Amino acid sequence: LPVTVYPDEQTASVRVARRIADLILAKQKKGEQAVLGLATGATPVGVYAELVRLHREEGLSFRNVITFNLDEYYPMQPDAAQSYVTFMNENLFDHVDIPRENVHIPDGTLERDEIAAYCLNYEHMIEELNGLDLQILGIGRTGHIGFNEPGSAPNSGTRLVTLDDLTRRDASRDFGGKENVPTKAITMGIGTIFKAREIILMAWSRKKAPIIKKAVEGEISSEVPATYLQLSDNVEFVLDEDAASELT
Ligand code: F6R
Repeated sequence: LPVTVYPDEQTASVRVARRIADLILAKQKKGEQAVLGLATGATPVGVYAELVRLHREEGLSFRNVITFNLDEYYPMQPDAAQSYVTFMNENLFDHVDIPRENVHIPDGTLERDEIAAYCLNYEHMIEELNGLDLQILGIGRTGHIGFNEPGSAPNSGTRLVTLDDLTRRDASRDFGGKENVPTKAITMGIGTIFKAREIILMAWSRKKAPIIKKAVEGEISSEVPATYLQLSDNVEFVLDEDAASELT
Protein backbone atom coordinates (compact mmCIF):
# COMPACT_ATOMS: atom_id res chain seq x y z
CA LEU A 1 0.00 0.00 0.00
CA PRO A 2 1.65 3.27 -1.07
CA VAL A 3 2.21 5.52 1.94
CA THR A 4 3.87 8.92 1.60
CA VAL A 5 4.96 10.66 4.79
CA TYR A 6 5.65 14.41 4.90
CA PRO A 7 7.22 16.27 7.82
CA ASP A 8 4.05 18.22 8.50
CA GLU A 9 0.47 18.84 7.44
CA GLN A 10 1.26 22.07 5.59
CA THR A 11 3.86 20.47 3.33
CA ALA A 12 1.59 17.51 2.61
CA SER A 13 -1.43 19.73 1.90
CA VAL A 14 0.50 21.81 -0.62
CA ARG A 15 1.61 18.65 -2.43
CA VAL A 16 -1.91 17.23 -2.61
CA ALA A 17 -3.25 20.59 -3.84
CA ARG A 18 -0.56 20.61 -6.54
CA ARG A 19 -1.69 17.17 -7.72
CA ILE A 20 -5.30 18.34 -7.91
CA ALA A 21 -4.20 21.47 -9.82
CA ASP A 22 -2.16 19.37 -12.25
CA LEU A 23 -5.18 17.13 -12.90
CA ILE A 24 -7.39 20.18 -13.55
CA LEU A 25 -4.78 21.67 -15.92
CA ALA A 26 -4.25 18.40 -17.81
CA LYS A 27 -8.02 18.10 -18.33
CA GLN A 28 -8.24 21.74 -19.42
CA LYS A 29 -5.61 21.13 -22.07
CA LYS A 30 -7.71 18.31 -23.50
CA GLY A 31 -10.90 20.38 -23.30
CA GLU A 32 -12.28 17.96 -20.71
CA GLN A 33 -13.82 18.29 -17.28
CA ALA A 34 -12.11 17.17 -14.06
CA VAL A 35 -14.49 15.23 -11.82
CA LEU A 36 -13.41 15.47 -8.19
CA GLY A 37 -14.70 13.70 -5.08
CA LEU A 38 -14.26 15.98 -2.08
CA ALA A 39 -14.20 15.60 1.69
CA THR A 40 -14.97 17.99 4.53
CA GLY A 41 -13.65 18.12 8.11
CA ALA A 42 -10.38 19.45 9.49
CA THR A 43 -8.11 17.28 7.33
CA PRO A 44 -8.52 18.87 3.85
CA VAL A 45 -8.66 22.51 5.03
CA GLY A 46 -5.02 23.16 4.08
CA VAL A 47 -5.52 21.59 0.65
CA TYR A 48 -8.48 23.86 -0.08
CA ALA A 49 -6.57 26.91 1.21
CA GLU A 50 -3.73 26.12 -1.20
CA LEU A 51 -6.18 25.61 -4.11
CA VAL A 52 -7.69 29.03 -3.33
CA ARG A 53 -4.17 30.51 -3.32
CA LEU A 54 -3.39 28.86 -6.67
CA HIS A 55 -6.61 30.37 -8.07
CA ARG A 56 -5.90 33.88 -6.74
CA GLU A 57 -2.18 34.08 -7.30
CA GLU A 58 -1.49 31.69 -10.16
CA GLY A 59 -4.70 31.91 -12.15
CA LEU A 60 -5.80 28.29 -11.67
CA SER A 61 -9.35 28.14 -13.03
CA PHE A 62 -12.10 25.82 -11.81
CA ARG A 63 -14.36 26.45 -14.83
CA ASN A 64 -13.90 22.84 -15.97
CA VAL A 65 -14.24 21.25 -12.52
CA ILE A 66 -17.22 19.17 -11.37
CA THR A 67 -17.36 18.13 -7.73
CA PHE A 68 -19.17 15.51 -5.70
CA ASN A 69 -18.88 15.71 -1.93
CA LEU A 70 -18.72 12.50 0.06
CA ASP A 71 -21.38 13.23 2.60
CA GLU A 72 -23.76 15.49 4.51
CA TYR A 73 -25.44 15.18 7.87
CA TYR A 74 -29.13 14.21 7.88
CA PRO A 75 -31.22 16.10 8.54
CA MET A 76 -29.33 19.31 7.76
CA GLN A 77 -30.29 22.67 6.29
CA PRO A 78 -27.70 23.83 3.72
CA ASP A 79 -27.43 27.30 5.31
CA ALA A 80 -26.80 25.94 8.83
CA ALA A 81 -23.36 26.76 10.26
CA GLN A 82 -22.49 23.04 10.62
CA SER A 83 -23.64 21.92 7.18
CA TYR A 84 -21.07 20.59 4.74
CA VAL A 85 -22.52 23.01 2.18
CA THR A 86 -21.46 25.90 4.44
CA PHE A 87 -18.08 24.25 5.01
CA MET A 88 -17.38 23.85 1.29
CA ASN A 89 -18.55 27.37 0.47
CA GLU A 90 -16.37 28.92 3.17
CA ASN A 91 -13.29 26.83 2.49
CA LEU A 92 -13.36 26.57 -1.30
CA PHE A 93 -16.35 27.33 -3.50
CA ASP A 94 -16.89 31.00 -2.49
CA HIS A 95 -13.25 31.73 -3.38
CA VAL A 96 -12.87 30.08 -6.80
CA ASP A 97 -14.61 30.31 -10.18
CA ILE A 98 -16.37 26.94 -10.15
CA PRO A 99 -19.81 27.11 -11.83
CA ARG A 100 -22.35 26.53 -9.05
CA GLU A 101 -24.24 23.99 -11.12
CA ASN A 102 -21.08 21.83 -11.14
CA VAL A 103 -21.17 21.41 -7.33
CA HIS A 104 -22.90 18.38 -5.82
CA ILE A 105 -23.31 17.80 -2.09
CA PRO A 106 -25.80 15.26 -0.67
CA ASP A 107 -29.07 16.99 0.25
CA GLY A 108 -29.80 16.95 3.97
CA THR A 109 -33.32 18.37 3.53
CA LEU A 110 -34.98 15.42 1.75
CA GLU A 111 -38.04 13.64 3.07
CA ARG A 112 -37.21 10.11 4.21
CA ASP A 113 -39.08 8.54 1.30
CA GLU A 114 -37.12 10.59 -1.23
CA ILE A 115 -33.67 9.48 -0.08
CA ALA A 116 -33.31 6.15 -1.88
CA ALA A 117 -34.08 7.62 -5.31
CA TYR A 118 -31.91 10.65 -4.60
CA CYS A 119 -28.95 8.41 -3.70
CA LEU A 120 -29.35 6.30 -6.84
CA ASN A 121 -29.37 9.49 -8.89
CA TYR A 122 -26.18 10.67 -7.15
CA GLU A 123 -24.49 7.48 -8.35
CA HIS A 124 -25.92 7.90 -11.85
CA MET A 125 -24.68 11.49 -12.13
CA ILE A 126 -21.13 10.30 -11.31
CA GLU A 127 -21.37 7.44 -13.80
CA GLU A 128 -22.73 9.72 -16.55
CA LEU A 129 -19.56 11.81 -16.19
CA ASN A 130 -17.48 8.66 -16.63
CA GLY A 131 -16.67 8.40 -12.89
CA LEU A 132 -14.55 10.31 -10.41
CA ASP A 133 -11.04 11.18 -11.59
CA LEU A 134 -9.80 11.69 -8.04
CA GLN A 135 -11.34 11.13 -4.62
CA ILE A 136 -9.95 12.93 -1.56
CA LEU A 137 -10.53 11.23 1.81
CA GLY A 138 -9.99 11.87 5.49
CA ILE A 139 -10.40 9.09 8.05
CA GLY A 140 -12.47 9.02 11.22
CA ARG A 141 -11.23 7.45 14.44
CA THR A 142 -13.79 4.64 13.89
CA GLY A 143 -12.02 3.84 10.61
CA HIS A 144 -14.79 5.43 8.55
CA ILE A 145 -14.19 6.88 5.10
CA GLY A 146 -16.98 9.19 4.05
CA PHE A 147 -19.48 8.25 6.73
CA ASN A 148 -19.09 4.53 6.05
CA GLU A 149 -18.96 3.40 9.66
CA PRO A 150 -17.91 -0.05 10.93
CA GLY A 151 -20.18 -2.67 9.41
CA SER A 152 -20.33 -1.00 5.99
CA ALA A 153 -20.22 -3.37 3.02
CA PRO A 154 -17.38 -3.09 0.49
CA ASN A 155 -19.85 -2.76 -2.39
CA SER A 156 -22.07 -0.19 -0.64
CA GLY A 157 -23.41 2.76 -2.62
CA THR A 158 -24.65 6.21 -1.67
CA ARG A 159 -27.18 5.81 1.14
CA LEU A 160 -28.54 6.98 4.48
CA VAL A 161 -26.42 5.73 7.40
CA THR A 162 -26.38 5.95 11.20
CA LEU A 163 -23.36 7.68 12.68
CA ASP A 164 -21.19 5.88 15.19
CA ASP A 165 -21.20 7.23 18.75
CA LEU A 166 -17.47 8.09 18.56
CA THR A 167 -18.05 10.02 15.32
CA ARG A 168 -20.81 12.05 17.00
CA ARG A 169 -18.55 12.70 20.00
CA ASP A 170 -15.76 13.90 17.69
CA ALA A 171 -18.26 16.27 16.01
CA SER A 172 -19.71 17.54 19.30
CA ARG A 173 -17.53 20.66 19.45
CA ASP A 174 -18.95 21.93 16.13
CA PHE A 175 -22.49 21.41 17.39
CA GLY A 176 -22.11 22.54 21.01
CA GLY A 177 -22.68 19.07 22.46
CA LYS A 178 -23.05 15.51 21.20
CA GLU A 179 -26.83 15.60 21.72
CA ASN A 180 -27.03 18.23 18.95
CA VAL A 181 -25.08 16.16 16.39
CA PRO A 182 -27.45 14.50 13.89
CA THR A 183 -27.66 10.73 14.31
CA LYS A 184 -27.65 10.14 10.57
CA ALA A 185 -25.92 11.17 7.36
CA ILE A 186 -26.09 10.59 3.63
CA THR A 187 -22.77 9.25 2.36
CA MET A 188 -21.22 7.87 -0.78
CA GLY A 189 -20.57 4.16 -0.28
CA ILE A 190 -17.32 2.23 -0.12
CA GLY A 191 -18.19 0.95 -3.60
CA THR A 192 -18.68 4.51 -4.87
CA ILE A 193 -15.30 5.58 -3.49
CA PHE A 194 -13.59 2.49 -4.89
CA LYS A 195 -14.60 3.31 -8.45
CA ALA A 196 -12.58 6.56 -8.44
CA ARG A 197 -9.56 6.35 -10.75
CA GLU A 198 -7.33 7.76 -8.00
CA ILE A 199 -7.87 7.90 -4.23
CA ILE A 200 -5.84 9.98 -1.77
CA LEU A 201 -6.46 9.41 1.94
CA MET A 202 -4.93 12.07 4.16
CA ALA A 203 -4.37 12.05 7.93
CA TRP A 204 -2.56 14.37 10.30
CA SER A 205 -1.64 14.27 14.00
CA ARG A 206 -1.05 11.65 16.68
CA LYS A 207 -4.79 11.41 17.25
CA LYS A 208 -5.02 9.53 13.93
CA ALA A 209 -1.94 7.30 14.45
CA PRO A 210 -3.79 4.27 15.93
CA ILE A 211 -6.47 4.18 13.21
CA ILE A 212 -3.87 4.73 10.48
CA LYS A 213 -1.95 1.71 11.79
CA LYS A 214 -5.12 -0.40 11.61
CA ALA A 215 -6.09 0.95 8.17
CA VAL A 216 -2.68 0.32 6.60
CA GLU A 217 -1.44 -2.77 8.46
CA GLY A 218 -4.56 -4.34 9.95
CA GLU A 219 -6.63 -7.25 8.72
CA ILE A 220 -9.16 -6.26 6.05
CA SER A 221 -12.51 -6.13 7.78
CA SER A 222 -15.79 -4.25 7.76
CA GLU A 223 -14.96 -3.40 11.40
CA VAL A 224 -12.44 -0.88 10.01
CA PRO A 225 -13.93 0.22 6.68
CA ALA A 226 -10.73 2.03 5.61
CA THR A 227 -8.95 -1.38 5.49
CA TYR A 228 -10.87 -2.06 2.25
CA LEU A 229 -8.56 0.49 0.62
CA GLN A 230 -5.79 -2.12 0.91
CA LEU A 231 -7.59 -3.90 -1.96
CA SER A 232 -7.31 -0.90 -4.30
CA ASP A 233 -4.47 -0.36 -6.78
CA ASN A 234 -5.28 3.33 -7.04
CA VAL A 235 -4.95 4.48 -3.44
CA GLU A 236 -2.25 6.48 -1.72
CA PHE A 237 -2.06 7.36 1.96
CA VAL A 238 -0.61 10.84 2.51
CA LEU A 239 0.40 11.33 6.14
CA ASP A 240 2.31 13.67 8.39
CA GLU A 241 4.96 12.15 10.66
CA ASP A 242 2.62 12.11 13.66
CA ALA A 243 -0.14 10.18 11.89
CA ALA A 244 2.48 7.73 10.56
CA SER A 245 4.20 7.33 13.94
CA GLU A 246 2.71 3.90 14.78
CA LEU A 247 3.43 2.28 11.39
CA THR A 248 6.07 -0.46 11.50
C1 F6R B 1 -15.87 14.22 5.74
C2 F6R B 1 -15.78 12.76 5.88
C3 F6R B 1 -15.16 12.12 7.09
C4 F6R B 1 -13.92 12.84 7.60
C5 F6R B 1 -13.40 12.16 8.86
C6 F6R B 1 -12.20 12.88 9.44
O1 F6R B 1 -16.49 14.56 4.51
O2 F6R B 1 -16.23 12.07 5.00
O3 F6R B 1 -14.84 10.79 6.77
O4 F6R B 1 -12.94 12.84 6.59
O5 F6R B 1 -14.41 12.12 9.82
O6 F6R B 1 -12.58 14.13 9.93
P1 F6R B 1 -11.48 15.22 10.31
O7 F6R B 1 -10.79 15.59 9.05
O8 F6R B 1 -12.28 16.39 10.85
O9 F6R B 1 -10.58 14.58 11.31
